[in-house]
Amino acid sequence: MKRKIEIADYAGKIMTETGKGILLTTKANGQVNSMTIGWGFLGIQWAKPIFVVLVRQSRHTKKMLDENPEFTVNIPLGAIDPNILGVCGTKSGRDLDKIAALGLTLEEGETVSVPAIKELPLTLECKVIYKQDQDPAAIAPENDTRFYAKGTANEGDYHTAYYGQITAAYIVE
Ligand SMILES: Cc1cc2nc3c(=O)[nH]c(=O)nc-3n(C[C@H](O)[C@H](O)[C@H](O)COP(=O)(O)O)c2cc1C
Repeated sequence: MKRKIEIADYAGKIMTETGKGILLTTKANGQVNSMTIGWGFLGIQWAKPIFVVLVRQSRHTKKMLDENPEFTVNIPLGAIDPNILGVCGTKSGRDLDKIAALGLTLEEGETVSVPAIKELPLTLECKVIYKQDQDPAAIAPENDTRFYAKGTANEGDYHTAYYGQITAAYIVE
């Protein structure tokens, strides 16, 4: 069962949990895949409620989002198995069916083709209405060095911002 919520009532919770790690779930070519995200923001643009996710070019999730521009954001309410954020934050859907490996329980989406996840019940269903590759030249040198430095595994692996219009918000019960 899904209990509808007012997004604004959960804005603080969404912000706090994003800083600790939440899931971004996508679906394309019959595959459902979740990755851990620690960056993202809630706001309003074009008179619509929006959640923006920042996805590096190397992620399998980027390929999936470009194929099917819909996603769910899955936020814990209470304690969860730390393995969930660990596996989804270190393994790629290219190599592993993370949903099956973790035994996660999927709930069909209401307004998108991507499911919610019962174990992380606070759910935002999102349709991508804008995407933008972040412009390396416009990134402050301090952050460019810290997050994309030459000679590191993240060299040149810039983020794309996907603006998801929130089309449904609820708690899976
Ligand atoms: C706490 C945490 C936060 C993360 N936040 C992000 C993020 O905001 N954006 C991103 O591109 N990768 C982020 N990652 C890395 C991805 O979750 C990781 O590379 C994942 O394996 C990608 O999965 P995929 O290849 O199936 O898309 C984060 C990882 C952790 C552990």
